Amino acid sequence: MDPTKAVLPPPGSTFAQTVDPLFNFLIIVAGIFLLVVTTGVIVFSLRYRRRHGVAQPGEATTHNTALEITWILIPFVLVMIVFFWGFKGYLVMSVVPKDAMEVKVTAQKWFWSFDYPNGVTSVNELVVPVGVPVKLLMSSKDVIHSFFVPSFRLKRDVLPNRYTIAWFKSTQSGEYDLFCAEYCGTKHSEMTGKVRVVAEREYDDWLVSTATAGEGVAPADYGAKLFVSKACYTCHSVDGTPGNGPSLFNLFGNEVRLTDGSSVLADENYLRESMLNPRSKVVVGYQPIMPTYQGLLKDKDIDALIAYLKTRSDTEK
Ligand code: CUA
Repeated sequence: MDPTKAVLPPPGSTFAQTVDPLFNFLIIVAGIFLLVVTTGVIVFSLRYRRRHGVAQPGEATTHNTALEITWILIPFVLVMIVFFWGFKGYLVMSVVPKDAMEVKVTAQKWFWSFDYPNGVTSVNELVVPVGVPVKLLMSSKDVIHSFFVPSFRLKRDVLPNRYTIAWFKSTQSGEYDLFCAEYCGTKHSEMTGKVRVVAEREYDDWLVSTATAGEGVAPADYGAKLFVSKACYTCHSVDGTPGNGPSLFNLFGNEVRLTDGSSVLADENYLRESMLNPRSKVVVGYQPIMPTYQGLLKDKDIDALIAYLKTRSDTEK
């Protein structure tokens, strides 16, 4: 078995070429030191333990120049190796190739959204053509998140009110896990996604099909798809199961009680407002934590989601 495979996930980007050997070097060096120090502690404590009939030494040795130079020089050389090796890799990661394709990454509690050059957006799934350098222009709508794709050896914080930039070049097609690596609240651990690396042809097809999604499909069916692809389901069930947000089962056409004591009829306008300005009317018993979907949903998408929610309500049957 290849021992490196047991530690790191299979590499998916060019960064693995520099990161993996350095990582393995660190593990091996740390392992050697662990062995030497532990063995030393055990051997010395057995050999020089206090025993009856053995006299205590008088004067202790104050220093040993050769020994001291050794224990300064060896770690110095080791950390310098790690520094220059790591710095080289860091430079590569910091300098975005000129021909990189740019994707805007937006993090918010608790999902990722991606804006592609042709105006298409996706949620929790970044789709990229294989072998093409991709520049990620990242920002957060609320707190600090961190964009982490272990297979790409790529992790960078995503901050509010500021852009951070990262890039990668995938080496083979496949699906790679995306995590949020900065604690960002209740559903931090569920703020996951996928990076789907596909052939260039497939990428172009995906862009076109995403841009024209919903055409020629019944709005309710398209809405059901959006409910998943826009990650609504992570907080809202459609079968009555409670979640971080109220279940949307039997919502349309019924009265909803709000935190301010009033109530509102869940009609088309209420649903639309709740997607675009979710904190204006908060359902009693829930926190105002839902992010706005302004910019993430086109009017057509909102129509479709409303059509879908109608199918989930008894008042419509
Ligand atoms: Cu976003 Cu943790």
